[in-house]
Parts: sequence; structure tokens; C-alpha cells
Amino acid sequence: MLKSMNIEEARRRQYLDALGITFWETRQHPDLAATNAMAADLSLAGDIPGTPTSSVQLKNTDDSIGDLHVWRELESAVRTCKKCSLHATRTQTVFGVGNYQAKWMFIGEAPGADEDRQGEPFVGRAGQLLNAILFALGLKREEVYIANVLKCRPPGNRDPQPEEVAQCEPYLLRQIDLIKPRLIVALGRHAAHSLLKTEVPLGKLRGQQLTYHGTPLFVTYHPAYLLRNPVDKRKAWNDLCHARAVMKRLETA
Ligand code: URA
Repeated sequence: MLKSMNIEEARRRQYLDALGITFWETRQHPDLAATNAMAADLSLAGDIPGTPTSSVQLKNTDDSIGDLHVWRELESAVRTCKKCSLHATRTQTVFGVGNYQAKWMFIGEAPGADEDRQGEPFVGRAGQLLNAILFALGLKREEVYIANVLKCRPPGNRDPQPEEVAQCEPYLLRQIDLIKPRLIVALGRHAAHSLLKTEVPLGKLRGQQLTYHGTPLFVTYHPAYLLRNPVDKRKAWNDLCHARAVMKRLETA
């Protein structure tokens, strides 16, 4: 079977394997994977295209992007923000990374220690898993946009406080408004709860198409949770395949 596969597809399957997601084909849908989650194996993570190395936002330097100055202003407002107490303990703010014209937007909870150090979201182990998931979906990290609800690290990675979310959320709303993604993926309970203003358990929020300020939104497990609970990778993969199917419909509508 591998003989007839192109190299890119073979690599994609290699990464799905590394994610613990077994790939099998049906005659009717050769392109769609059914999934079977197993243990995490990030041994290939260092090779995954798009593994973050810097916060340089490739493809966004083109002057034809009219909103570039707006982005610069927003980024500067975030960099100097002191609206909540997190400014006192941060090393630096973590604005967001990716394509300003992304169709997909992935939203996490808040920077962790690695992100606080490097100034870019999802650069630690959870980020490597996110990169692998993106690759398995056929997406490159630099073609999507990745941000967090909070732009500063809560000390000790504690949960975001309602006051912090309230102060920080306008930045995220502005990012969404500028990007106008076709689809948003909320990564984990805290992102889902902050975005949807609900306390409904994540298990009840996943598996359905929701909306965030008019944009289709899917909720799935946070990559850090999946590192601790690899058995749930199958469910996360199903969520993302559902999102991808909706994206395909949106693209052809
Ligand atoms: N977890 C998050 O929610 N966001 C990050 O950027 C990193 C880890």
C-alpha cells in the first residue's frame, strides 16, 4: 500500500502513528481516517514540521495585509498590558502566533512556563502534540492561528480567574475579529468555559458544533490533558475530524 502513496501522505501517516492513531482506509472514503487511540509517543516530535522555533510570524509581513498596523497596535497593547495582576509575575506576554488570514483558529487556556519564557503559545510538550495533531489533520502550524484566552501565565499554572478572563478576553475577541476564522477549536475545559461562558462539563460540550460570536466552534481535549490521558486521543481525533468535515463544507459552500 505504501508504494502507491505519495511521500507527504506517507509522512502524515507516520505522524498519526506517532500520535497513537491507527490509520485505516475504507474503499468509499480513502481519505478519511478512522481512529484508534493508544499511548502517546512523541519521539518524532522534534521532526514535526512547524515545531516552534521562534515567534516570527511568517507570511504576515506582506504589506498587502491592510490590517498589519492594527495587528502591531494590538500586539503592543498586549505587551504593555497591566489590567490584571498577572503582569507582575509574567516574564513576557504571549500574544498569539500564525497566519492573520487563517481559516482555523485554535484557542488554549493560558501560557505555561515554556510559553512565558519564549513568548509563543504552545511551544512545550503540549505544543509538540498540537503540532503533530495539526500535521495529522493536514494543516501546518504557520497556516492556522494559535492563541490563548489569557496572554499572561498564571503563577504555577493555576486556573485562570474570572477577573483575568474578563480583562484579557477583549484582546482575543479583537484577534478573532481581525482574522475572521471560518472555524474555532477550543482546546480544553478552561478555554471552552471561558469562551462559551458556561460551566457545562467538557464531555457534554465536545462532539457538537457550537458558535462563538457567530463563528462555528468545536470543543476538544487540551493537548496537555491528552498527554496525561492518551486513551482519549481517539475522542479528540474524532472531534477534529468532525471539525475538518465542517470546514470542508464551509469551503465548498
Ligand atoms: N497550554 C495552553 O493552554 N496554552 C499554551 O500556550 C500552552 C499550554
